[in-house]
Amino acid sequence: MTLVHNWQIGRKMDYPYFESRPERQFAAVFNTNRCIACQTCTMADKSTWLYSRGQEYMWWNNVETKPYGGYPQHWDVKTLALLSNNGENPLTWSTEKDDKDNKKSPYGLYEGETIFEAAKTRNLNQWAIGYIPTDKEWRFPNIDEDAAASEKMNNELQVAQEYSTLPVHKRWFFYLARLCNHCTYPGCLAACPRRAIYKRKEDGIVLIDQKRCRGYRKCVEQCPYKKTMYRAQTRVTEKCVACYPRIEGKDPITSGRPMETRCMSACVGKIRMQGFLDDNPKNPITWLVKHHKVALPLYPQFGTEPNVYYIPPRWAPRAYLRQMFGPEVEAAIEKYTAPSRELLAILQLFRTTQTIIYEYRIEQGPKVYETTINGKKWEYYNDTAIGLAKDGTELVRLTVEEPTYESPKERLNSI
Ligand code: SF4
Ligand code: SF4
Ligand code: F3S
Repeated sequence: MTLVHNWQIGRKMDYPYFESRPERQFAAVFNTNRCIACQTCTMADKSTWLYSRGQEYMWWNNVETKPYGGYPQHWDVKTLALLSNNGENPLTWSTEKDDKDNKKSPYGLYEGETIFEAAKTRNLNQWAIGYIPTDKEWRFPNIDEDAAASEKMNNELQVAQEYSTLPVHKRWFFYLARLCNHCTYPGCLAACPRRAIYKRKEDGIVLIDQKRCRGYRKCVEQCPYKKTMYRAQTRVTEKCVACYPRIEGKDPITSGRPMETRCMSACVGKIRMQGFLDDNPKNPITWLVKHHKVALPLYPQFGTEPNVYYIPPRWAPRAYLRQMFGPEVEAAIEKYTAPSRELLAILQLFRTTQTIIYEYRIEQGPKVYETTINGKKWEYYNDTAIGLAKDGTELVRLTVEEPTYESPKERLNSI
């Protein structure tokens, strides 16, 4: 093991390989408040990569209903239970640190063990803790869809007395869209004895070399997100490839410019924005994740430094969300509930172009509305958000307030 820095847990941790960050990291931000579980992303991915024999149970992209849904079934509950080891490894965070706003530990300090550290402490003969899901657990990609959690389960007579108001609904569920996180410290890559898995230097995309893989399935066991999938027909394992030809700009539609993946660009709910994490504060992904901290990683305590980030849902119980997205979750929800001028403008850029946005600009507009949110004054400006391509070309320009057009009288429809 070597010591590597994991900024999401605010400290160094054990990992089998040296720290080696790509020039820019493939990343995405998902706004869970907007997902409608239409599964368009799932089918876009399926119809692009996963229609051959043996891929029937492969869903590189899936959308599950939390808290009960999961693909494979109960993947997160099982991994959390394994990691916590009956409470012997308390998955706690300390947010009291002086360096809380320091870039090295923006969410505070994770005090528990990661999946890599737990394997070492427990003297397991493997790089990370994990389990292999049973065939049955892979069988139903959308089990428990729309099943709500409630304080008043199984008591139909009391339903009429229930009501819900923000911040937390009594009956709740939310949709969690998932794909491989193209982790900075992938569990799958650490696990493979054949070294068949690699992370690309140029964009951080994690791939399985199909010729090297011998189907050992250690990667299936040690990816905590269960995003490597074994194909019995070919006897090798496959995973999300981040539509890398599009990322490389090989699709003719964007004339050589890097293009978003299929699942991202198909999103009907406009919940997704994909690009790269880099050091440019005017990169919308970098701004949302690193500067504004409104988008958070999924289960950062696993220790793989996942690179799909989520704006958490406003109505779900905070303890549940804290476990899922870490200790910054309340602050992130507060920021989303009363968005700053910059956040509101950047949110407009979601799903407006298939070409990857490298930089945003905001042109200030007039104030159009004022109200109070959570007891605080909130002002609404009709600013203009602009998205720029890698070469600085303007890709998209739109105002915060959607323009309305009135049809002239002669064009009015009549029935
Ligand atoms: Fe590997 Fe799993 Fe991370 Fe994807 S999510 S890079 S499959 S550990
Ligand atoms: Fe959710 Fe978008 Fe996928 Fe539809 S396409 S399920 S809105 S992430
Ligand atoms: Fe390695 Fe996973 Fe294949 S462990 S050999 S990439 S099945």
